[in-house]
Amino acid sequence: MRENDAPTPTESPSPFAFRALLREQRVWDTGDAGLPPFDPAQAPGDPLTLFHLWFAGAAAAGQPEPHTMTLATAGADGLPDARTVMLHDADDRGWHFATHTTSRKGSQLAARPYAALAFYWHAQARAVRVRGPVHPAPPAETSADLHARPTGALAAAIAGRQSEVLGSIEELRSTYESAWRRAERDPAAQAPTWAGHVVVPDEVEFFQGDAHRQHVRLRYVRDAADAADPGAVWRRELLWP
Ligand SMILES: Cc1cc2nc3c(=O)[nH]c(=O)nc-3n(C[C@H](O)[C@H](O)[C@H](O)COP(=O)(O)O)c2cc1C
Repeated sequence: MRENDAPTPTESPSPFAFRALLREQRVWDTGDAGLPPFDPAQAPGDPLTLFHLWFAGAAAAGQPEPHTMTLATAGADGLPDARTVMLHDADDRGWHFATHTTSRKGSQLAARPYAALAFYWHAQARAVRVRGPVHPAPPAETSADLHARPTGALAAAIAGRQSEVLGSIEELRSTYESAWRRAERDPAAQAPTWAGHVVVPDEVEFFQGDAHRQHVRLRYVRDAADAADPGAVWRRELLWP
């Protein structure tokens, strides 16, 4: 049963009911708890430190799945695309995720190794955006990470074929069952198409929602002169909401 005990709808609402439902939705309905304060003048000099702080804050505030994010890419045609992926790490190198090189996003990243990430943590009315070039993660690191995850993760990675057209649900079941058996039999099995990627930040923006719509936006921009320097200096600027 869902938290509010409301029955799950079994029929689509009419367009009228849908629009009414849409209008009655609210954001940042945190009641007495209020929204967390954010003073950009006190923000750290680098975005990674602030990201770690906000991530820990989102987890502590009960934000479900704060490690999920929207990954936006563009292919050779320049058209945008987006989907949800999991954050595997955020460190001095950048923001890490893993996927199949043969998937749609894999082909897009091969054609244009550049991406944007978006996190939305409604429990604290916070959002974070990251943009930059995408570099391959060291394969040994990706493999170690995959093999430290539950059997299902390895089975899905072995099965591959992500984003190919699927003939039937039965085909999916039988492929995954045999991939699962293989993952159990050989927990060190390699998944050739599974690859780690690192978004190296050129820009990172932090958005703190405000009940009176005076949202605070703080953008960190990597100083072009220091682009090749991992200890780069960041320029900070406020943005109109
Ligand atoms: C919560 C959540 C987490 C996901 N995590 C990943 C992930 O870490 N890697 C991945 O390849 N796909 C992940 N997916 C699936 C993607 O959203 C997407 O369906 C898949 O990667 C195919 O995308 P593409 O066709 O654009 O390549 C996740 C989906 C959800 C809903």
